[in-house]
Amino acid sequence: MGVMFMEKKSSRISGFYKLPVAERLEKVADFADLNDEEKKIFLRNGDVALGIDTEIADRMIENVIGVFELPLGIATNFVINGREYLIPMAIEESSVVAAASNAARIARVKGGFHASTTDPVMIGQIQLLNVEDFEKAADTVRKEKKKLLEVANAQDKTLVSFGGGARDIEVKVLGEGKERMLILHLLVDVRDAMGANAVNTMCEALAPIVEEITGGKARLKILSNLADKRLARAEAVFDKETIGGDEVVDAFLEGYRFAVFDPYRAATHNKGIMNGIDAVVIATGNDWRAIEAGAHAYAARDGQYKPLTKYWKDKDGNLVGSIEIPLAIGTVGGASSLHKKAQLCRKIVGVKTAGELAQVIASVGLAQNFAALLALSTVGIQKGHMELHAQNIAVMAGAKGDQIDEIAKRMIEEKNVRIDRAKELMKELYGIV
Ligand code: MEV
Repeated sequence: MGVMFMEKKSSRISGFYKLPVAERLEKVADFADLNDEEKKIFLRNGDVALGIDTEIADRMIENVIGVFELPLGIATNFVINGREYLIPMAIEESSVVAAASNAARIARVKGGFHASTTDPVMIGQIQLLNVEDFEKAADTVRKEKKKLLEVANAQDKTLVSFGGGARDIEVKVLGEGKERMLILHLLVDVRDAMGANAVNTMCEALAPIVEEITGGKARLKILSNLADKRLARAEAVFDKETIGGDEVVDAFLEGYRFAVFDPYRAATHNKGIMNGIDAVVIATGNDWRAIEAGAHAYAARDGQYKPLTKYWKDKDGNLVGSIEIPLAIGTVGGASSLHKKAQLCRKIVGVKTAGELAQVIASVGLAQNFAALLALSTVGIQKGHMELHAQNIAVMAGAKGDQIDEIAKRMIEEKNVRIDRAKELMKELYGIV
């Protein structure tokens, strides 16, 4: 089945970036079987549907005055676990989508990305104060675990019917003296949901019972965004000849090691990873703040903030990269189910489960980081950024239509991409001040 699928629909669409927007959409529609109605949701002209109209937006958050749009691009070339993917990315930063597609093109040479996930287990926390005997209280919670898990699972019969539910309870004591507190971790398999609602409901239902059996006072009851029991991993081999030979591999590894030793560099390194991850998380209607919080907390789990990716050479001198990251991603539930474009983006990426989506997202994070490090350790980052950046500057100077390409081209030739130069060119070439 995989082979048939690959022959028919490949994500390797060469020259995709050169096509007009409508033709790109046609290609994606072919790939993902989008019908005419669905296509219209992307091509917003006149009164064609938005992803969310203001009426829906008004129900999603408070004090609504409109909706806020971001560019939506498609990363091509991805093969993950032998399957072809076109990946929607919503992001305002130029070069990110091109860089991910380019990295995926290189990864294809050696078979693409290999990704996996743990079970989708989220952690809920209950904070207990005023406990008299912490050891005794912790023991009581452990003894009553079965009953507590039953109460938790009674809160979400649907989740249990889909094979999820509360699995375990862990207890720890934190703080000193009067500030001591007992912390319960409720571990919940949330299946294809992001899980915050299910876990928070369970924690709130357990709190009074835990108070009763321990004699303590429950203060906070809330999900933890350090989702370190819900990890996604991806790995890829980047062919050494395709990236420029041994010297480039060595330069790449030197650049990577900077992030291993230095949190100042690691923050930027991980920011590049999140460029890719957030863009897919947003396009698929997920909570990117949760993903960001989890990623950075996980990066600092050993006490020093570290890169989320690792790189080394294989026996043939090819570059191998891997990523491990908590990804609390959902494909069911949540307010984003109301967002038509987010739903269609899930259709384009074509995943069956939240775990599969997490594998795709982890692969994009690795691709993004590989592309950034490859550029940084060779030609520098500005070269790739320059073309779209120059176009943005031209637009800021008032250029329209063909003027945009002309002004951008001239500024790049002159190696002078600045708003004042763009304005001068607008005056010189078109007499527009
Ligand atoms: C820019 O958005 C991201 C980079 O700074 C990432 C990195 O330095 O690795 C290019």
